[in-house]
Amino acid sequence: MQEVNPEDLPENQEAGPSGGEPPDDTPIDLEAEFHASNVQEVLDKLDHELVGLEPVKQRIREIAALLLVDRARKQMQLTTETPTLHMCFTGNPGTGKTTVAMRMAEILHRLEYVRQGHLVAVTRDDLVGQYIGHTAPKTKEVLKKAMGGVLFIDEAYYLYRPENERDYGQEAIEILLQVMEDNRDDLVVILAGYADKMDRFFQSNPGMRSRIAHHLDFPDYSGGELMEIARIMLGDLNYDFSLEAEEAFQEYIERRMAMPHFANARSIRNAIDRARLRQANRLFAGDTNLTKADLKTIKAEDIRASSVFEQGVPDADPAMNR
Ligand SMILES: Nc1ncnc2c1ncn2[C@@H]1O[C@H](COP(=O)(O)OP(=O)(O)OP(=O)(O)O)[C@@H](O)[C@H]1O
Ligand SMILES: [Mg+2]
Repeated sequence: MQEVNPEDLPENQEAGPSGGEPPDDTPIDLEAEFHASNVQEVLDKLDHELVGLEPVKQRIREIAALLLVDRARKQMQLTTETPTLHMCFTGNPGTGKTTVAMRMAEILHRLEYVRQGHLVAVTRDDLVGQYIGHTAPKTKEVLKKAMGGVLFIDEAYYLYRPENERDYGQEAIEILLQVMEDNRDDLVVILAGYADKMDRFFQSNPGMRSRIAHHLDFPDYSGGELMEIARIMLGDLNYDFSLEAEEAFQEYIERRMAMPHFANARSIRNAIDRARLRQANRLFAGDTNLTKADLKTIKAEDIRASSVFEQGVPDADPAMNR
């Protein structure tokens, strides 16, 4: 990819037929390059749409700056190398890893590091076969789909199962390692999962660790951040909390955070889905002559009916609460 386009170079500084390097005082306007790439738009979206995640947002701004400077250096023929951009996103479930990976793909695309900027999200089962000879074609098929974009491997450490002697995961890892090296100018791999498991995986797979350039850690959200996320999600869906519902949901968050299978923003999304279901049932069971406000409003009772409010009873269906 990333060919030096003579039109991008300042006048009279075109890479001549001799391929000579432009002189040291050749000007380049990084600001103009930045605007032309439209990356700011993605960074703004990241800032506005995602609550919290300050360290992650900061790292992404740094990576964007690095890529921009690298592009300028390429134009000045100071480098021909494509930097390694494979990444590792660690954090608990629902902390925004997949969402940020999609934004990352967009940034990489706008800076022309990948051709298309799509995201292919997979887990072990998409890469590893059950029988001998099944893994290589499966892995290669996924890689083919992801070429020109980002391959996001969720819970990547499950690829490695040392306890299972005849595990085909190793085969998938070998293929991935090769492609991560050979095609790094057209494919970015993001490994995602829990930090401790990822650490252990890297200890046993130093080849994988050495190919990862950026590690981003996603912190758990605070109660306040989760409330803010809830408001954004509701707003996007054209719902509102009543005053009492807001209070109830704050209490819901406190309780839910202390329970098993808590999954940060994902638990919030699920709680909102269930509140909408209860609201719909409440409206349908009552006087069905309604106003727009009725249709918009989530009331406290739509939240307090959750089993999270039953003392000491864990949620009936933990899977639903993830
Ligand atoms: N900071 C945030 N602000 C607003 N919404 C968020 C934020 N983080 C996550 N979400 C929302 O929460 C949901 C879960 O996020 P996402 O799927 O990105 O998390 P994840 O870390 O990939 O989780 P998992 O490990 O469960 O796959 C999505 O609907 C996403 O839009
Ligand atoms: Mg995810």
